[in-house]
Amino acid sequence: MRSEFLPFAKPDVSEEAIADVVDSIRSGWITTGPKAQRFENSFGEYVGSPYSLAVNSATAGLHLALLAFGIGPGDEVITTPLTFAATVNTIVWVGAKPVLADIDPVTLNIDPALVEKAVTPRTKAIIPVHFAGRPCDMDAIEAIAKRHRLVIIEDAAHALGADFRGRRIGAPLGERHAAVFSFHPTKNITTGEGGMVCTECEDAAEKVSVLRQHGMSKGAWNRYAVTGNPHYDILFPGLKYNMLDIQAAIGSDQLKHLEAFNAKRREIVDLYRRKLGGLKTLSLPPVPDPKDTHSWHIFTPLVETDRLEMSRDEFMGKMREKNIGTALHYQAIHLFSYFSENYGWKRGDFPNAEYVSGRIISLPLFPAMTDDDIADGVEAVLEICG
Ligand SMILES: Cc1ncc(COP(=O)(O)O)c(C=O)c1O
Repeated sequence: MRSEFLPFAKPDVSEEAIADVVDSIRSGWITTGPKAQRFENSFGEYVGSPYSLAVNSATAGLHLALLAFGIGPGDEVITTPLTFAATVNTIVWVGAKPVLADIDPVTLNIDPALVEKAVTPRTKAIIPVHFAGRPCDMDAIEAIAKRHRLVIIEDAAHALGADFRGRRIGAPLGERHAAVFSFHPTKNITTGEGGMVCTECEDAAEKVSVLRQHGMSKGAWNRYAVTGNPHYDILFPGLKYNMLDIQAAIGSDQLKHLEAFNAKRREIVDLYRRKLGGLKTLSLPPVPDPKDTHSWHIFTPLVETDRLEMSRDEFMGKMREKNIGTALHYQAIHLFSYFSENYGWKRGDFPNAEYVSGRIISLPLFPAMTDDDIADGVEAVLEICG
């Protein structure tokens, strides 16, 4: 057994990034300033987005994107039950009603046919989540959005570097569209905590930019720097969601490594497939559609609990005994107490998400994994499932 615990994810931050953080701290300019702007520019170039607005988390980004498109009380927003709470929490915080459409059991992404069925005259937006980094069927979702004049906010927390039919996730998809990325430490790149909102809509970009900093017409850089002017106006009652330069310093460097990071993720996934593909007690995620690029934020097999005669939680416990970390992405949203109590959702409402929610695990997957780490992870699974 390994002597050291293998986490399911671990960030890989270079010495250059650390030096650039130190440079920010020494310079005296720690908060939002030139490095945040530099990160926005390079990020926008990478995904091909006309506007990229850095924020302090994807949660903040989702909240601001909903506000920027004027979504609020009386509106309904359709999303998936297989997501992190932030996707649904932010819908609740703008005063809109979250509406769930079940997942496709193969891709684990929202099923467009069920999205169509969930549309009502009050529906204003769809938030597709590219689960694990596998792009949703954006052609189908775009067609529904066009038919009903809906906003699309892609929850791209898992999908940095993913493409759908040649369109990089985050690239333009019309005026009523934004994509939101996360830079939490487990994600494809990190800034410690952080997020980015990408859109081609000038008005939405302007609103996100103002709302992320109290609704002020000018950020600190435009007020306190040598060429700044201290006066400002409050255009909306905004929030405090700006990204610091010390975070952006890490982000700019991480972005340079993204393609190599994602290539390493793919390599590890291929290895897992070769070593674990024959097991009857573990179902591996399907091979992605060759027309798309999967960003492999997480690798999420299903534990075949009946065949293995072991619950998923017992499986996770056994992995932990072997010093191998796993994670649970996700417990289906509708089964959490707040949501079931407030929206009347109950077990049986979204059977595909429930089936997956009871069986899914995330195995260790991060670019800095060594050959020994991968071998240890594989061996632990084989010992439990073999
Ligand atoms: C699908 C999804 N959406 C949103 C978020 C929120 O991201 P953040 O932690 O950057 O706020 C996460 C984070 O794990 C996520 O996985």
